[in-house]
Amino acid sequence: MAARAAPAAEPGIVPRHVAIIMDGNGRWAKARFLPRIAGHRQGVEAVRRVSRAARAAGIEVLTLYAFSSENWRRPEEEISDLMGLLRHFLSSELDDLVAEGVRLRVIGDYHRLAPDLVRMIDQAIARTTAHAGPTLVIALNYGSQAEIASAARRLAEQVAAGTLAPADIDEDRFAAALATQDLPPLDLVIRTSGEQRLSNFLLWQAAYAELLFIDTLWPDFDEAALNDALRQYGRRQRRFGGL
Ligand code: IPE
Ligand code: IPE
Ligand code: MG
Repeated sequence: MAARAAPAAEPGIVPRHVAIIMDGNGRWAKARFLPRIAGHRQGVEAVRRVSRAARAAGIEVLTLYAFSSENWRRPEEEISDLMGLLRHFLSSELDDLVAEGVRLRVIGDYHRLAPDLVRMIDQAIARTTAHAGPTLVIALNYGSQAEIASAARRLAEQVAAGTLAPADIDEDRFAAALATQDLPPLDLVIRTSGEQRLSNFLLWQAAYAELLFIDTLWPDFDEAALNDALRQYGRRQRRFGGL
């Protein structure tokens, strides 16, 4: 029997907010005796494919882990290659994002990146901020523990200033102090490349997200892989502590 194209995920069970830990670029390159940058380049192609596929599937928010606060531990040359690719992605993709009405957001301490990149990012955010369409969130120099500590610091400052009572700090108030404050709750976290850890990504937000660890290396991830992930999500029974 001829292979049939995988059907798209069923309507009605499409997650609103999907986050992806895009892992495995280095191993993809290594398997081909190529330098790691070749894997990162293919990884950028996967970002283009998958962000389009996510919009086509009706996902409202796609959050992509592009550079962690721990990735500074990599060799300088690799970091500079990654920053170069980010520059290239922003300049080559922005017009399309604008044309498609996508809202671009960044979480993480991106102000620590090179000044020209910070400017590019700020301009890209400003150009798309009024869009009502789907949102693409890029996590850059992002670390969840730092995000949580910074939220705690901000609330503590309000307490010290007398504008917030300690008794008023609850989950909602805390969530409103995080970088994801105005995004819908996180429904699904996908990590590629077989690793089964969160690597300091969206720890608070993932409290009740479904977790999906798949063996595919990020540069090989495509629309079919996304739709397969959405189907698996659709079969999960989310209980949120109830029955
Ligand atoms: C993910 O691929 C990209 C970033 C972390 C920026 P890796 O570079 O971590 O690839 P592996 O894990 O070495 O295969
Ligand atoms: C997580 O991948 C960060 C990104 C995908 C940006 P890593 O490859 O850095 O994670 P670890 O070091 O294997 O946990
Ligand atoms: Mg990795």
